[in-house]
Amino acid sequence: MPSLTQPADLDGVRDSYDRVADNYVDMIATTSLGDIRHQPWLRAAMDVFADAVRGLGPVLDVGCGPGTITAYLAERGLDVSGVDLSPRMIEHARRLHPECTFGVGSATDLDLAEASWGGLLGWWSLFNLPRDVLPQVLSAFARALVPGGQLIVATHVGDGDVQRTEAYGGVAVRWTTHLWQPDQLLALIEQTGLTPKAELRLPAEGEIGPGVVLVAEA
Ligand SMILES: C[S@@+](CC[C@H](N)C(=O)[O-])C[C@H]1O[C@@H](n2cnc3c(N)ncnc32)[C@H](O)[C@@H]1O
Repeated sequence: MPSLTQPADLDGVRDSYDRVADNYVDMIATTSLGDIRHQPWLRAAMDVFADAVRGLGPVLDVGCGPGTITAYLAERGLDVSGVDLSPRMIEHARRLHPECTFGVGSATDLDLAEASWGGLLGWWSLFNLPRDVLPQVLSAFARALVPGGQLIVATHVGDGDVQRTEAYGGVAVRWTTHLWQPDQLLALIEQTGLTPKAELRLPAEGEIGPGVVLVAEA
């Protein structure tokens, strides 16, 4: 894979997710946020994705956090592993889901061989990537998928960039949430050569929105 531009704030983003990881895991355990088992539309999207990639090749959950989705897909019989920027998130993932394989790494620095993955996820994990870096990551994902392979992305919808200084229960963080309009993100995905397959919009009034889930096929 050609080397991608590395975000200037990557160290700060990593440290921030390390700091929030314990509260994030607690949030998943104690609320309906963060676990698709309690979010029927998100669960439905993930179930269709799982069916679509079954048998196509391995699946990589990029920005897997504590591995909730990785484990969900493993339960459905997929050959899935997870990777995350934050070592603390990966510590939790390994503790909570010892049956799965996890690694530490950035979406911008993955060794993704061409046409080798059946499925790739960027599940609420690509919004910290600078606007000029996200297209490079999506292109690398597109090259890495086998024909028929699927990309699923979930992200926050809006305009502009939000500088976050605290998250998940008042923990001090330093990261930028880059908001995307669904059509903008869809255009980026189409520019990689992938074919859009589905789009699920999550309204602002909902528990999670405004957000969007996009699925595209190689
Ligand atoms: C909101 S959490 C979502 C975690 C998980 N996908 C889930 O749905 O529970 C965002 C995750 O993205 C990870 N992340 C942020 N930037 C990343 C990058 N450049 N490469 C890999 N992971 C990244 C963070 O460490 C964090 O675990």
